Amino acid sequence: MSEAIDLAAFPSDFVWGTATSAYQIEGAVAEDGRTPSIWDTFSHTPGKIDNDDHGDVACDHYHRWPEDIALMKELGAGAYRMSIAWPRVVPGGDGPVHAAGLDFYDRLVDGLLDAGITPNITLYHWDLPQALQDRGGWTSRETAEHLAAYASAVAGRLGDRVTRWATLNEPLCSGWIGHLEGRMAPGLTDLTAAVHASYHLLLGHGLAAQAIRAAVPGAQVGLVTNHSTVETASTRPEDLAAATRMDGHTNRWWLDPVYGRGFPADMRELYGVELPERAGDLETIAVPLDWHGLNYYFPVTVADDPAGPVPYAREVRLPDVPRTGMDWQIDADGLEAFLMRLTDDYGVRELYVTENGSAFPDTVAPDGTVDDSDRARYLEQHISACARAVRKGAPLAGYYAWSLLDNFEWAYGYDKRFGLVHVDYATQTRTIKSSGHRYADIIRAHRRLQA
Ligand code: FCB
Repeated sequence: MSEAIDLAAFPSDFVWGTATSAYQIEGAVAEDGRTPSIWDTFSHTPGKIDNDDHGDVACDHYHRWPEDIALMKELGAGAYRMSIAWPRVVPGGDGPVHAAGLDFYDRLVDGLLDAGITPNITLYHWDLPQALQDRGGWTSRETAEHLAAYASAVAGRLGDRVTRWATLNEPLCSGWIGHLEGRMAPGLTDLTAAVHASYHLLLGHGLAAQAIRAAVPGAQVGLVTNHSTVETASTRPEDLAAATRMDGHTNRWWLDPVYGRGFPADMRELYGVELPERAGDLETIAVPLDWHGLNYYFPVTVADDPAGPVPYAREVRLPDVPRTGMDWQIDADGLEAFLMRLTDDYGVRELYVTENGSAFPDTVAPDGTVDDSDRARYLEQHISACARAVRKGAPLAGYYAWSLLDNFEWAYGYDKRFGLVHVDYATQTRTIKSSGHRYADIIRAHRRLQA
């Protein structure tokens, strides 16, 4: 059953897109001068990734990109959010720019534009050159400066054709999951390293935003962050306080400094780690943005957990709520709520949903089709939530479905499939799933409203 969506809520120039990231789809990890990133190292460390999967081949997008552009065209998506692999462009992490590494993206951008698809480029989607990790990675201030130099090189080469840029994807995952929880590259479990990494990521964001603007007059520069609405398990004061801490850890730590409020005092106290702050940094971090990208997947419910890890709030698994194949709770109202929070509390002027989607265990029918009604329903519910937010005044200008293709889902490897397009990894055959057809219908229906 498909849900009726209030498509008339969306402005006529609303952007409908799909999203991917470099390491998750490209493969070709040793081609044309690319050096290893922290994700090559992490995924080749036994036991870090389900099935010991890695991104060596992934979707082989590096060679199959024309076919992938054709798929986007078939879906009718007018925009594509993609990322650039830093180790292709600056193989040493800093120092010489490798023109051959940029050639790939040059061809890809031309191919997209020829197909009438607008690229939205993220510079850093977690694949830090290993060479920089060896010198401290994000715990080192220099990495923030190197990000800006790399951003300048990419923007200088592609900026004549690309206007929409994001500096970072989900610094929370790099900072907290990569340096505190250890479930993502570089796999550290060290609070001081994590706090310093989070600081340098946001500093790098500010420096890179300035570098892009210097290289591309008229560039539209934004940041992509991921968030969850935080609910309390009970109204006990201890649980309410835990929810405030989790909100600080997940949401405020990543938004307050970017919107000129500095790092939240309650969280600074909780972490108890001195920030590697220098005069002028907070202004750099709070560089005004043209747009903000929200990645939203699920809400969280928490209870007090004084003996647990930072931020001493334990996630409570609600019974009898719908969940995806990631075991993530499905709650489209959380998307609406977070769009309103960015609008009302942070005063964001232009918003995009830069990622939203679901993994389910798809099955390929004998006739080759993939009927993924769960994913289609997730998509409908969340687009409806966007429509409600627009009706309430959110300046939402676009929605990018995660993901165009099934791909390398980080620590979960290839078993978790988020694509609107199914990928058979043995043959690299692509098949549009029924959710992809549903997305194409939605895009067409919205377009028809303008006719
Ligand atoms: C986000 C990531 C993206 C993808 C989705 C499912 O956290 O940005 O690369 O893995 O989750």
